[in-house]
Amino acid sequence: MDTSRIDGQVVLVTGAASGIGHAIARACVAEGVTVHLADVSDAVHTEAGKLSGTGNGTVASHVCDVRDRDAVRALVDDVVAASGRLDIAFLNAGVNGAPSLLQPGGAIDELSFEEWRRVMEVNLDGLFHCLQHSARVMKRQRSGSVVVTASTAGLRAEPRVSYPYVASKSAVVGLVRQAALELARFGVRVNALAPGPVVTNIGGTGPRPASSVAAWEDSIPMRRWGRPEDVAGMALLLASGAASWMTGGVHVVDGGASALTQIGSDALPAPDTTAP
Ligand SMILES: NC(=O)c1ccc[n+]([C@@H]2O[C@H](COP(=O)([O-])OP(=O)(O)OC[C@H]3O[C@@H](n4cnc5c(N)ncnc54)[C@H](O)[C@@H]3O)[C@@H](O)[C@H]2O)c1
Repeated sequence: MDTSRIDGQVVLVTGAASGIGHAIARACVAEGVTVHLADVSDAVHTEAGKLSGTGNGTVASHVCDVRDRDAVRALVDDVVAASGRLDIAFLNAGVNGAPSLLQPGGAIDELSFEEWRRVMEVNLDGLFHCLQHSARVMKRQRSGSVVVTASTAGLRAEPRVSYPYVASKSAVVGLVRQAALELARFGVRVNALAPGPVVTNIGGTGPRPASSVAAWEDSIPMRRWGRPEDVAGMALLLASGAASWMTGGVHVVDGGASALTQIGSDALPAPDTTAP
């Protein structure tokens, strides 16, 4: 048996219209699976259309906002109604875009509650809904694999990203571990990916300034940002039989960035020199 393959499985990918989710969906189609792409953006239909026929897999697309519990329930029910089961769930939808510690409005006493909730509602509440409904089906099947996209920002403090992003991804790691603990006896594995900086549309702000790109690269031993494909490979590995004894893990994919113990003083907020 080739345990590194996932062919023949029924797969759901959330946040599949763009970036890492799209790369995972593309890799799944190449592996010959039935893949259901879901996204809040209706671009998911176009993107699914483009993937159709690129491999042996079957492609379906769904517009679904992961913040909406009823919509997530309906999404999972639709997948099962169409394909008979749900073997693998890549729970990947996420947002950022709130100001970092180094940007105006990003300090704890400046950050708006609206920005906090905007990120938490997708990254944490949305994941909770997706995990709950995927688990409901997988427990019944007595098999399944869930791969959640967390972040290295969920493993340490990170001045270049926002409070709600770090807090949501830290909570995601806890949710994954707790779910792995519960679901192991049902034959369901739950793992997290923790990517470092990857070139995608996250934040929705278009191309990043060269200074920001360079600052991140300085903290990556491999000296480049990740590509969505770099993360998709690990995602499929975790979902496959090659990872059959792996659950509750957080798997870093970051060009070596986490191997460093410090990121350089230039990435820290400047010392406060003002008098109290
Ligand atoms: N890009 C990075 O540097 C990086 C690093 C670590 C982790 N991540 C994580 O990777 C995941 C994918 O992000 P990406 O970088 O590919 O960004 P992206 O913006 O390219 O893709 C995210 C997708 O999620 C969708 N989405 C957003 N809100 C949604 C909602 N409410 N319901 C359903 N879909 C929704 C978007 O429409 C988009 O298609 C996220 O969880 C993100 O936090 C990204």
